[in-house]
This record gives sequence, C-alpha cells and structure tokens, in this order.
Amino acid sequence: MNDNSPAPELHAAADEPHRKPVVAIVFGGRSSEHAVSCATAASVLSAIDRDRFDVVPIGISQDGRWVLVADDPEPLRLTADHTPSVHGETTAVLSTDPAAREVMIFPPNEPPRRLTAVDVVLPLLHGPFGEDGTLQGLLELADTRYVGSGVSASAVMMDKALMKVVFAAAGLPVGPHVVITDKEWRRDKAVCLETANGLGMPVFVKPARAGSSVGVVKVDEPADLEAAIETARESDPKVLVEAAIAGREVECGVLEGHGCDPARASQVGEITVTGDRHTFYDFQAKYLDTDAQLSCPADLPPEVSEEIRELSVKAFEAAGCEGLSRVDWFYEPGRGLMLNEINTMPGFTPQSMFPRVWAESGLDYPSLITELIELALERRVGLR
Ligand SMILES: Nc1ncnc2c1ncn2[C@@H]1O[C@H](COP(=O)(O)OP(=O)(O)O)[C@@H](O)[C@H]1O
Ligand SMILES: [Mg+2]
Repeated sequence: MNDNSPAPELHAAADEPHRKPVVAIVFGGRSSEHAVSCATAASVLSAIDRDRFDVVPIGISQDGRWVLVADDPEPLRLTADHTPSVHGETTAVLSTDPAAREVMIFPPNEPPRRLTAVDVVLPLLHGPFGEDGTLQGLLELADTRYVGSGVSASAVMMDKALMKVVFAAAGLPVGPHVVITDKEWRRDKAVCLETANGLGMPVFVKPARAGSSVGVVKVDEPADLEAAIETARESDPKVLVEAAIAGREVECGVLEGHGCDPARASQVGEITVTGDRHTFYDFQAKYLDTDAQLSCPADLPPEVSEEIRELSVKAFEAAGCEGLSRVDWFYEPGRGLMLNEINTMPGFTPQSMFPRVWAESGLDYPSLITELIELALERRVGLR
C-alpha cells in the first residue's frame, strides 16, 4: 500500500443527537497477520452500511504507528501478487480520556487537531498486539465501546496453552499436548524434546500466540522436532507441541446474544484441504491458493452438528467471550470431537469461514457487520 491520503474530515459532534454512530475501523498491526488484517479491512470498508454508520479507518503499521488511512479498500486487498501493508503520514490516535472518545490527528507540519468523535471501535486485528487484549485494554481505559471480546477473554484465547486450561476446566475435550516455555527451552532442550517425544509421532508444533498457521509445523520424525520448535519460537518463545489428531476440521460461528439472551451458534462449516501441496491447513492454503475448500453446512450427522453448536456456545461462555468467536473442532467419526481453538477475531473477509457460516444461517456479510456493531454499541462500558 502506498502512502494514504487522509480520509475526508468528519464533523460529528458528540452533542448532535441525530448523527450516525462513528465507527473507527482499526487494522493492520504488529503481528505476522498484518496483511490478513488489511485484507479484512478492505472487505469491511466495502460492505459496511454507510447509511447507518460513519467510518474512520485507522491503520497500525508493522512497527506499531497508528496512522490515518484513506477510506479506500483497493490498496488493502491481499492477492498472490500483492501483500498489503499500512503506511501513512498522519498519526491518528484514540484519546485515552474517558470523557473525550475521539480521534486526534497529527498531520505533518500542522498543529494536531480533533478529527471526529468515536462511538465504537471495530478492531479488525489478528494475533498479538490486537486480538490479545492489549488493544482491548487501551479501549477499556478510554471507556470506548468496541466489537468483540474484552481483555481477559482476548488474552487467554490468544494463548493456546492458557486456552486449553480454560477448556479442560469447563469439561471440554482437549487433546494431549506439551507446553515449552522460553525458560524451559533455554534451560534444557534435551528434557523438553524428551517430554514432547512422549506424545508419539506425528505432532503439531506451534507458537502459543500466533494465528493463520504462521509458525505451525507438522512433525513426522523425532529428528525433526528440534527444528520445528525453533521455527515456532521465531513467532513466539512459548511453544506448544500437540499430538496430531486425524479428524475432519469443522468450525462453528458464535455470536453474543442481545441483552440477557444466550449466545447463538451458526451452522457448522468444514475445511477440506486437497492436493498434495499441503499436509494441513497452512497459511498458503488459507489465503493464497485454491487447495482449501470451505463447505457449509458440513455434511455431518445432525446430532453431531447439534453437539458442535452446543459445545461451541459452551466454549464461548466458558472463555467469557463477547461479540463474536469462531470455535474450531476436529471430528473423528467413531471417536468424537476435540476442541482445537477459539479465535476471538476470526478471518473476516466474505470468503472466510465465519461470515460464510453466518450467511448460511441467514445473516449476510453487511448484516453481520451491522449486528456486531450494534452488539458493541449496546454494551456497557467498564466492568461487565
Ligand atoms: N493437533 C492437531 N492435529 C491435527 N492438525 C492440527 C493440529 N493442530 C493444528 N493442526 C492443523 O494446523 C492448522 C493450524 O493450527 P491452529 O492450531 O489452528 O493454529 P492457528 O491459530 O494458526 O490457526 C489447523 O487448522 C490444522 O489444519
Ligand atoms: Mg486455527
């Protein structure tokens, strides 16, 4: 993405009763999923209901600068030939003053000024420093409403080791795994390797706090384990080694209920990876080629679909999620379900699983965006 010219000035005033809610779309970010987040922002900028909402797009560059970007989806699209990223001249920050709820901009060679009030933030960030409670903490400090889970659910669901602790405590099925912390690895690699080898082969080695399959390696031979752990450690010094599960990958969308209503589960979707280029659902299969097929509703016995929907809501509630989550399962006929993970900000382009399963459940992409913003607008600020 080239330098973005600033968005047009917005003049919404907090005391103007009939103005549209202003949605700050925050995307990009410091994680390895920067480009994926840009792609999501492109889709949302194209589809958000402009009759209902005013929009201010704020990008976070890979080095963590917040900048005002043009309200234009085109340079943000992710294709095999173009990896989008955030650049910009004009720093844009959300005020942390709970009384203000506004965006301040700092144009080069001009005095800083207030750009607009902000009613709700749509954080379209994946991975650490965005999906993991850090941004959510900033917004809590500012008494600013935002889409999605709060600080603790975001942080715990970002960390695949802590996530499994919560799931196991709630009686949800999690597979055999070993956690290798940075200190343990640096203290004694041999002990770590021996413990991980105890799981048998094959295993999946993954960074505890990442996403989009970045850093995930399938290991078939004990001799390859050390290199895989080093690869995962490039994304996160905390690593998980999991016994491989030979199941179908099925996923369920969950949306928070309005008011005191319980959370809602979508139809169940399934991912099938075809061809011999991928041994699992890796980054390339997720975003760049056509070897991964998403189908919805998944061809499952009705009682299995119903169990997935029920347990997905249970996982969402156990984790204290808000707004939205995608709950990912392995299903082995004859052996049942194993919970893989919750994503508190799942992939969100119209082709992604979360919007697809909700479209199949009667909520199309623009309506889903509106629903998420309305859920966020109706919730209290402060402890909930
Ligand atoms: N224990 C496992 N058994 C089988 N496949 C796995 C396992 N863990 C991960 N995978 C494969 O790797 C992919 C990415 O792993 P996942 O834990 O979902 O990480 P991410 O947060 O990056 O999506 C999964 O979608 C699946 O294809
Ligand atoms: Mg996953």
